[in-house]
Amino acid sequence: MANRKKLIIGNWKMHKNVHEASLLLHKLEQAVPVYRDVEVVLAPTMLALQSLSLQINRRQFKLAAQNCYWRDEGAYTGEVSAAQLHGVADYVVIGHSERRHIFGESERDIRSKVQAAVRNRLHPVLCVGETATERADNETKHVIHDQIVSGLANITSEEIGFVAIAYEPVWAIGTGQNAEPADVDKVARLIHKQVASLYGEEAAAALRILYGGSVNDQNAGHYLSSERIDGLLVGGASLSPKVFAKIVEQAHNKHNDKQV
Ligand code: PGA
Repeated sequence: MANRKKLIIGNWKMHKNVHEASLLLHKLEQAVPVYRDVEVVLAPTMLALQSLSLQINRRQFKLAAQNCYWRDEGAYTGEVSAAQLHGVADYVVIGHSERRHIFGESERDIRSKVQAAVRNRLHPVLCVGETATERADNETKHVIHDQIVSGLANITSEEIGFVAIAYEPVWAIGTGQNAEPADVDKVARLIHKQVASLYGEEAAAALRILYGGSVNDQNAGHYLSSERIDGLLVGGASLSPKVFAKIVEQAHNKHNDKQV
């Protein structure tokens, strides 16, 4: 919504080792201006979270994990819990399409992870979106509805404002085929409506809705012009300090446009 801070998240995915991540952060520190009305979040490899958390200026950037496990501790070899991320990251991306489709994450996993994030005071960024086939079959509305109802099933109306939802059409991720801003605006309104019908208008007004999928410095502004879009989840373009900085600048400009 217009009077809220914009949220720009850079998802580095499985790129950069610890040393390279530190260098990228250094370049971003120089390139990305600090605006009071834009919150900038970086999601590096899990391995680099700890070291970057020591390097980072928290007024400029916050950190996100790209995933977490939903139990707080125990014999779960290879997993990292939301409880362990507490104090290192502020956000956690949950149910990204690569997690759903490559790693077979189920709706049950995703809803438990959203709950674990909130329990451990990490903002969950719940990713939802239809595949190309679902889109061709006119299923977008139903897919989004089901993913939202299921993903938020363990969340109370008081907790909704702590959550962000990223609408990321699967066919738009990493393909250069970004969604039409008008269609994204429609889906964002739909998400708002669905959350309002589940949790009430007040809770829905507090929810942040982002768009992700082939965002770059040329198209970012179009999405941010929508009243319903509070920010962007940026993949490939977040690895270029120059491009990412331009996206953050646009978030600031758009925010100012809407204030007048
Ligand atoms: P992309 O990735 O910007 O490279 O399409 C977005 C995402 O996966 O979050």
